This record gives sequence, C-alpha cells and structure tokens, in this order.
Amino acid sequence: MTILVTGGAGFIGSNFVLDWLAESDETLVNLDKLTYAGNLANLAELEGDPRHVFVRGDLGDRDLLDQILATHQPRAVINFAAESHVDRSIHGPEDFIQTNIIGTFRLLESVRHWWAALPAERHRAFRLLHVSTDEVYGSLAPNDGPFTETNPYEPNSPYSASKAAGDHLVRAWYHTYGLPVLTTHCSNNYGPYHFPEKLIPLVIVNALAGKPLPIYGDGQQIRDWLYVKDHCSAIRRVLAAGQLGEVYNVGGWNEKPNIDIVHTVCTLLDELHPRSDSKSYKDQITYVTDRPGHDRRYAIDARKLERDLGWRPAETFETGIRKTVQWYLDHPDWVSNVQSGAYREWVDQNYKQRSV
Ligand code: NAD
Ligand code: TYD
Repeated sequence: MTILVTGGAGFIGSNFVLDWLAESDETLVNLDKLTYAGNLANLAELEGDPRHVFVRGDLGDRDLLDQILATHQPRAVINFAAESHVDRSIHGPEDFIQTNIIGTFRLLESVRHWWAALPAERHRAFRLLHVSTDEVYGSLAPNDGPFTETNPYEPNSPYSASKAAGDHLVRAWYHTYGLPVLTTHCSNNYGPYHFPEKLIPLVIVNALAGKPLPIYGDGQQIRDWLYVKDHCSAIRRVLAAGQLGEVYNVGGWNEKPNIDIVHTVCTLLDELHPRSDSKSYKDQITYVTDRPGHDRRYAIDARKLERDLGWRPAETFETGIRKTVQWYLDHPDWVSNVQSGAYREWVDQNYKQRSV
C-alpha cells in the first residue's frame, strides 16, 4: 500500500511524513516543489529509506501528477502543498493563486481521471484529504464563539482567499463528480521545522541572535495554537475514519494574544539559554507597523472531531512550547541553513519598511 503526500518537505508536511513512517511500513511518495519553504534537511533521517520516495515537482504539473498516480497507485492523497505565509501573500499574491488554486485544481482533475478507472474495491476505498486552514473563516470579534464547520467563509488576505478558493474546488469535486474527499481546517501550528518567517520560530531565532522581536500593531491579535504533531495525528484520524465529503476543524482550545506567546517564549529562553548580560529576552521586544488587513482573532471549535472521531490533542501549550524552544536550541545548524541569502532578502523586504 502507498500514500501520496504533496508538500511533504514543508513544516507540517515533513512532520507528517516523519510521524507516518515512524508508525507504518506503508510506502509514502512525497511530491514537493522545494520552494523556499521546502527543505529536504527536515527529512534527513529518511535518507536511504525505501519507504520514502521523493519527487521534486509542481502541484500544477498535470503530466507529472498523472505519471505519479499511474506509477505508484496510492490508496490516498494528502494535499499539504501550498504557499502558506500571509505577509508574503501581501507582497506577492501570484504564487498563492498558482499553487493554492490552480495547483489544487490540477490535482483534483488528475486524481479524478485516474480514480474513475480504478477497479471497484480500490475505487471505493480511495481518499483525497485536503489540508486547509481556519483563516478561510475570517476574523472573530472578542465575544464571538469559535469557528465551527458551518461558519461562512470570509477570507481577508490573499493567502486565506486562495485557500478558500481551493477548498471550494475540493467541495465541488465531491458534489459534482463524487470524488471521495475530506477537508480539515486547522488553527496555527507550532513545533520543530517551522520556517522562521512565522511568529514563534522568528521570535526564537531573533532572540538568540540578539535581534529585535517584532510585534505587529498592539500585539493583542489572538491565534489558537496547536502543536504540529497533534495536527498530524488529527489528519491520520480523519483519513482513517472521516465521513466522505465532510469537513473537520482541528484545534487545541488554546487561544492566546501574540504578546503573551512572545512573553512565554522569552521566559523559556531566559530559563534554558540565559542572555550573557542576565537581562530578559523581553527587552528585545519591538512594536512595529501592523500587517494590512490583519485578522484580529481566530479560534477553533474542535468538538466535531472529538465527538465523531475521538481525536484530542496530546500536548498542552505549556508542554508543546517547551519542546519547541528546546528543539530550536538543539538544532542551530538547521536554523543557520534555512537562513540563506533568500531568507535575508525576505527579512529585509518585510521588516525594513515597518517603522518601529
Ligand atoms: P510550508 O510553507 O511550511 O510548506 C509548504 C510546502 O509545500 C513546502 O515544502 C513547499 O516546497 C511545497 N510547495 C509549495 N508550492 C508547491 C507547488 N506548487 N508544488 C509542490 N509543492 C509545493 O507550509 P505548512 O505550514 O507546512 O502548511 C502546510 C499546509 O497546511 C498548507 O496547505 C497550509 O495552508 C496548511 N495549514 C498550515 C497551518 C500553519 O500554522 N502552518 C495551519 C493550518 C493549515
Ligand atoms: P504568523 O506566524 O505569520 O501566522 P498567521 O498570520 O498565519 O496567523 O503570525 C501569527 C501572528 O503573529 C499574526 O497575528 C501576525 C503576528 N506576527 C507579528 O506580530 N510579528 C511578526 O514578525 C510575525 C511574522 C507575525
């Protein structure tokens, strides 16, 4: 048996691939374009492992998709591949449209044609799981209940709009063609291999480098944080037991304002790796110009996943964030490798124009 994963060299995808192959002997084919966010170093421990078949390529390449499906005959496809960073989508939305919309469309079409010709038993058992985000639901007011699966879509950034469009295609391919799809909407992840353009890894690596810790606006925006391995276990659970055509929200009931997250990371670093001058890393916090269209609050109601499929997160925020900070302290080589020239150009582009 084989599964096909797209985007398996990125943050969540590589955690998923590692967890999958730690628990199963099923072959995993990993299609990834290796954009700036894809990093084969995340999968270094799988080198020489015949269960991991890596293919470098674009989700939008229909011929390649057709060839991979025909060759490997997967029993399931899990679509992680995406452009994923809101700030980058503001600076340059084109890649988001190409991958998150056109790429998803090409994947759906390739899978649909191949799946239609499968023998009855394999046709019936096949699943396509599309990994989406809570950001498609828009922004919550302070007293709103958390997002449920029936929340209307109100995306506010080019990133979330492109993910929303991809989700609509997935939904339509189920209703129109009967393609056996499942969709998950997860809240913000954190953990090992998180690219340091996102808040938590950026704060850890900037703190250790003695650089400012940039807080957009007033720092009171709320995100609902989930340890990445818990997202991976939720995806495995939905793939195994989810109802076809259904949508599942994934979250850890863990809403926190950004400034509290940054304070927690600083406190852990003060304990695990104190500054040489014995001052707190909090001294490096710097308020900068806000993100345009910045969503104020995300929160996920994950009761459906717990009630229907029995999934609950294994980590609390306290255990997960401690593991994460320790992971970055233990992997300075991984951090310096991803901070290539292209990374430095992005940091200049995003932060130079934000007045302090
Ligand atoms: P990431 O940016 O770290 O990784 C994306 C991966 O996709 C990279 O390996 C990249 O090389 C690959 N990729 C990009 N464009 C491609 C293309 N055209 N063809 C093939 N591969 C391509 O993203 P992530 O944080 O790991 O997110 C994975 C998925 O989970 C995305 O769909 C994202 O929308 C979703 N998601 C992320 C979060 C989060 O907090 N990071 C939360 C909820 C949902
Ligand atoms: P991010 O990790 O980019 O995830 P998302 O925008 O998908 O939620 O950002 C998390 C929150 O942190 C978001 O409210 C924006 C804020 N943020 C900062 O305050 N400073 C930063 O340098 C970054 C990258 C994000």
